[in-house]
Amino acid sequence: MSKSILVTGGTGTLGRVVVRRLLDAGHDVRILSRRPPPAQAPLGWATGDLRTGAGIDAATSEVDVVVHCATTLGRKDVVVTRRLVEAARRNGDPHMIFSSIVGIDRVPLPYYRAKLEAERLVANSGLPWTIQRITQFHDLLARITSVQRFSPVIGTVSGVRFQPIDVRDVAERLAELAGGAPAGRVPDIGGPEIRSHRDLARAYLNSTGRRRLVLSIRLPGAAFAGYRRGDNLVPNRAVGRITFDEFLAEQR
Ligand SMILES: NC(=O)c1ccc[n+]([C@@H]2O[C@H](COP(=O)([O-])OP(=O)(O)OC[C@H]3O[C@@H](n4cnc5c(N)ncnc54)[C@H](OP(=O)(O)O)[C@@H]3O)[C@@H](O)[C@H]2O)c1
Repeated sequence: MSKSILVTGGTGTLGRVVVRRLLDAGHDVRILSRRPPPAQAPLGWATGDLRTGAGIDAATSEVDVVVHCATTLGRKDVVVTRRLVEAARRNGDPHMIFSSIVGIDRVPLPYYRAKLEAERLVANSGLPWTIQRITQFHDLLARITSVQRFSPVIGTVSGVRFQPIDVRDVAERLAELAGGAPAGRVPDIGGPEIRSHRDLARAYLNSTGRRRLVLSIRLPGAAFAGYRRGDNLVPNRAVGRITFDEFLAEQR
């Protein structure tokens, strides 16, 4: 059945692909962005700001589902999610789907604390809800190395592994959840392989033809201890199919 779906962060790395997937499934899709719509936007568009609340009532009106992919990459995710949830409550109680991160309750990073608080806002909102935790995206692992490309030495964190997932695999899962009934906290999802940070950095460098010295640095602190324990991994939930190497080959 076709639904009317708002995608917050529909211009972002994940949101863009979610929008495409939902349109392919025949849903009526509206993007929320702080920017004005591009000329001849082929779909619904709401201009609004989740930090100030401007435009958010109009954005959340007359939708069956909200797929919440917007992020400030920081503490402001709490206020952003609160504004969204409150507007959704005023405008017909749509099914709220929240894209969260694996390990946010175990790895003590400020961003993760904010995500955890945002999850609680969704779960206690009175809205029908679904929370999907996800491991790091391929794009993020590629970016961590690419930002260092002008340095002769590439830094990686020793003892840390990742299970990166392709946003197309994530979008497929979120579209499935959007088409279904509210499900609460659903099982986490991760990518098809677990690889060391060093190995992933080397794969990125090889794919771009760059030769660099890759250093493994042991970083102190509870957050990195959490990563070393593997609190960011879900080996039993390797749902993603597209590998990091396949992703890199397509980027070239
Ligand atoms: N990156 C990862 O590895 C990873 C892993 C697991 C889960 N996640 C989660 O997946 C979600 C999407 O992440 P992403 O990497 O795709 O994010 P992203 O590329 O950084 O995109 C962020 C989006 O948020 C929107 N946004 C930011 N501030 C806003 C505001 N004040 N009002 C309205 N919209 C605002 C931006 O839209 P405009 O600029 O158009 O306004 C943009 O579309 C996040 O919840 C993130 O925590 C990410």
